[in-house]
Amino acid sequence: MEMIPKVRKAVFPAAGLGTRFLPATKAQPKEMLPVVDKPLIQYGVEEALDSGVPNIIIITGRNKSSIEDHFDVSFELENVLESKHKDHLLSVVRKISDMINVSYVRQKEALGLGHAVLRARELIGPEPFAVVLADDVIEAKRPCLRQLIDVHDFFGASVVALMEVPREAVSAYGVVDAEPVEHNGACDKLFRIRSLVEKPNPQDAPSNLAIIGRYVLTPEIFQSIDSIEAGAGGEIQLTDALRHLLRNGPIYGLLFEGTRYDAGDKLGFLKATVEFALGRDDLGGPFREYLKSLEL
Ligand code: UTP
Repeated sequence: MEMIPKVRKAVFPAAGLGTRFLPATKAQPKEMLPVVDKPLIQYGVEEALDSGVPNIIIITGRNKSSIEDHFDVSFELENVLESKHKDHLLSVVRKISDMINVSYVRQKEALGLGHAVLRARELIGPEPFAVVLADDVIEAKRPCLRQLIDVHDFFGASVVALMEVPREAVSAYGVVDAEPVEHNGACDKLFRIRSLVEKPNPQDAPSNLAIIGRYVLTPEIFQSIDSIEAGAGGEIQLTDALRHLLRNGPIYGLLFEGTRYDAGDKLGFLKATVEFALGRDDLGGPFREYLKSLEL
């Protein structure tokens, strides 16, 4: 039997323009927007680490320095915290720079998600890898990425995370045409993908199963990205590359277990902020009291 290689690297595209979140994203990437007190990208990085993926590759664009600084050692800050005996904060800050083995690749122009992923080709090499879009923040008992990796490790094929969305919302997503597959005796969560389309009109959409920002991809995806033309919005779309990759072999879709917040969108961001604040030991109580006091 052929060995299925392990997923060891995760790509974090963070070079988009974040136009839905202007003006906050004028001078900083949206991946640095904090939900409660942690930037979006840190939630994603923690999810990758919790999923057993130790190597992080961040695709940056203009205004990249805040992301690099965030994951770097900050001697000055550490010195101040140390001298003031702020041990808890010091450990919070140290944990971030100790946390990851990180590399950065530049996407010089925001030519699309597929184009961004292609920048990681040299660093990935001939092995399967994960893609995490950090503006999709996912709360789950078992990390969403881990759920996808389990499917990958079983089939040795690419896997995308799926979510059911209202029909009228499909035009904001990549949408799949897919048939259920039996897996571990259950066949309501796993799908084999027949085709995919980026941002379809609701009346043309093959289903209401939308792709959200977690993927496990086999390295053949790079040839596929290389072969396709710009698609929706004039961008090199990862969804189009996945459709091309179907010629190569099967792709699976998993209705993951958990809650996803679209934190790249203002309303989604606000929902994530409220839910995460309510879930915090230190803030949940007083924040709940405050919300109750609002006359809505
Ligand atoms: P989005 O579709 O959310 O686009 O990108 P965007 O440009 O970031 O944001 P809006 O729609 O203008 O508000 C999905 C992910 O792909 C990355 C983004 O950083 C985000 O993580 N991306 C997108 C790139 O890295 N490069 C690109 O050229 C496009």
